[in-house]
Order: sequence, then structure tokens, then C-alpha cells
Amino acid sequence: MVRALPLVLLFLSFNNCHSGIIGGLFVEDIANKLVQQVLPRKLVLDPELALPFMACLRGKNREGNSYHMLCSATIIGKRHILTAAHCYYGLFGRHQREASKSRIKRETLEKLRIRVGDTMAGPGEFFEIDKIFLRPRSNYTNYDDIMVVQLKESITFDNLTKGIVKLARNVEPKPGMEYDVAGFGNHTNDGKNFDSPDTYTFNSIKVREDAFCKKFLRKREYCAGGEDQGTMGGDSGGPMYSRVKPRYQVGIIARGATEHKTLGDKAVLLDHGAYTKVAPYCDFIEKVTKGEVKCENVDW
Ligand SMILES: *[C@@H]1O[C@H](CO)[C@@H](O)[C@H](O)[C@H]1NC(C)=O
Ligand SMILES: *[C@@H]1O[C@H](CO)[C@@H](O)[C@H](O)[C@H]1NC(C)=O
Ligand SMILES: *[C@@H]1O[C@H](CO)[C@@H](O)[C@H](O)[C@H]1NC(C)=O
Repeated sequence: MVRALPLVLLFLSFNNCHSGIIGGLFVEDIANKLVQQVLPRKLVLDPELALPFMACLRGKNREGNSYHMLCSATIIGKRHILTAAHCYYGLFGRHQREASKSRIKRETLEKLRIRVGDTMAGPGEFFEIDKIFLRPRSNYTNYDDIMVVQLKESITFDNLTKGIVKLARNVEPKPGMEYDVAGFGNHTNDGKNFDSPDTYTFNSIKVREDAFCKKFLRKREYCAGGEDQGTMGGDSGGPMYSRVKPRYQVGIIARGATEHKTLGDKAVLLDHGAYTKVAPYCDFIEKVTKGEVKCENVDW
């Protein structure tokens, strides 16, 4: 259900839980049509569409020589990143109890990196993690799916490949509204698969009634998705944001389920996705970043 990618850290086994899609790029649906297994997305081919605030969370592989994609994230300040809390808790698999122990936490953070500035033109830069902030009283059985990451060093912005996304204090997505989502998840573009892509992809998405996600929606979350629009493994922690500039982030990709559907003679993937609302956490974000990150009121 969660949309983080599995990874085995050096000392812990990682749980194998991501979106429930298994197998090849296409499967036969009930109407014997070939259906894509992953949702289509757009690539950033025009600099106007670039999202310089995109970041990702990566974890050291067993050999210790490279960092695998775990989750998507956004740059919200010079040394602050916003992502989902399950991107941290999910690292511990069956050993979730360990997640709150300070020694284990420190050792885990040493194996994680944030990467920023990934574009079609080339890979970005890695940053080491100083601290993570979860909501007070969070534990592995009961947490809000939001996490602020503090970097050891500040990011130098050029605003083309690296820059911030603004946060809206007074906007809560409502059914019928349409936003964009972006992430480093597993998608297709023009029939080609983007399994563990080097760069993010994006697409527009509709906000839906809570009932559309009723089985897995938690407090301070909302639902979005639809036919061939949604999020997948690796997108977790990524943003839902306003398409018009300046772009404001309104949600964080949390979890979801994708099903195969036949509508008339058309086969589609129908995605039900849960997103953490950003606005209710503005005070939390401002507090843990000591005011380095501030939400703004927007008048859309
Ligand atoms: C991406 O999706 C394809 C097709 O379903 C699948 O074979 C592959 O394992 C997925 N990769 C990840 C990292 O989830
Ligand atoms: C986690 O937090 C919830 C709510 O605060 C609490 O009821 C529960 O006992 C906690 N669980 C653990 C394992 O600490
Ligand atoms: C990037 O944008 C911020 C405002 O959002 C501005 O303060 C900063 O000077 C810009 N940096 C560059 C290198 O253009």
C-alpha cells in the first residue's frame, strides 16, 4: 500500500510492501486486452515545466557503493526537505520497534542521503542528513505521514534545477479541484517504462471525495486519483502542487491502491491515492525549522 520502494539496509530487513502491482509492464485484463501495469506520466522536456524543488530520499545499498531510490521529496528551505514519515518507518520492516531508538536512528540516518537537482540533463547532488522531525508522540504504529528532514549543509539555489516550493497555509484540496503530482516512481511515458527513473515525472490529478479512498484514508489526509492518473511505488513523499507559478505544495503522496478496470471497451488503471494535507502542519513545519520555512496565505 505504501508507495516507498523496498530497500535492504545493512543491518535490517526491509518490508516488501509497496503498491500491489506485480509482474511485467503489461498484463491481460478480463477483456483479454493488454493493459499497462504502471500509470502514464509526463517528462520534463520543456524548462518551463521543470520542478526545481524536486528531491529524493536514497539509501545506501548492501555493498555500500551506491544509493537506491526510496522516496520522493521536496525542497522547502535551504536545508529543509519535506517527505512522508513512512519513508523512515518503512525502512525497518518487521523491526519497526527499532525505529525510535536513538542509536539505530543515528546509524540509519548515516546510511540515507537526500538528492536534489536531478534533471533530464544529469544527476543531481547528494546531501547528508542532520536530523529528521516526525510529529510529537509519533511511533511506528501511530503516526501522521509527514516528515521534515534537516540537511547537514545548505543547498545552493539556482532556481532552475534547485529551488524551493512554497507552502500554502490556507488551501485544503477539495473534491473537483485539479492539481499536479510529481515523483520518482515507476511510470510509463509514451509506452516506455520508467522503472527507477533518473528524473521525476509528473501528471495532473483530480481530488476526489473521501469515499473514493475510504479504506485507507487517515486524519488530515485527502483522496485523489482516477483513470490513468495517480501515483505508484517510489512516488511516496512527493508533492501535489498547483500547476500555475509560483507553485505551492498542498499535499504529500502517502499511499494508495491501483486496480484494473474495463470501461466500455477501454482498459484503464484506476488509482485511489491518499495524500497528507500540508496546511494543517504549517505550525509544525515552522516550529521544527525554527522559522526558516514559513507557510504563506494565497488568494486563489
Ligand atoms: C516497476 O513496474 C514494473 C511493471 O509492473 C515492475 O516489473 C517493476 O518491478 C517495478 N519496479 C519497481 C521498482 O517497483
Ligand atoms: C503509539 O502511539 C499511540 C497513540 O499515542 C499509543 O496509543 C500507542 O500505545 C503507541 N504505541 C507504542 C508501541 O508505543
Ligand atoms: C532564487 O529565488 C529566490 C526567491 O524565491 C531568490 O531570493 C534568490 O535570489 C533566487 N536565486 C537565484 C540564484 O536566482
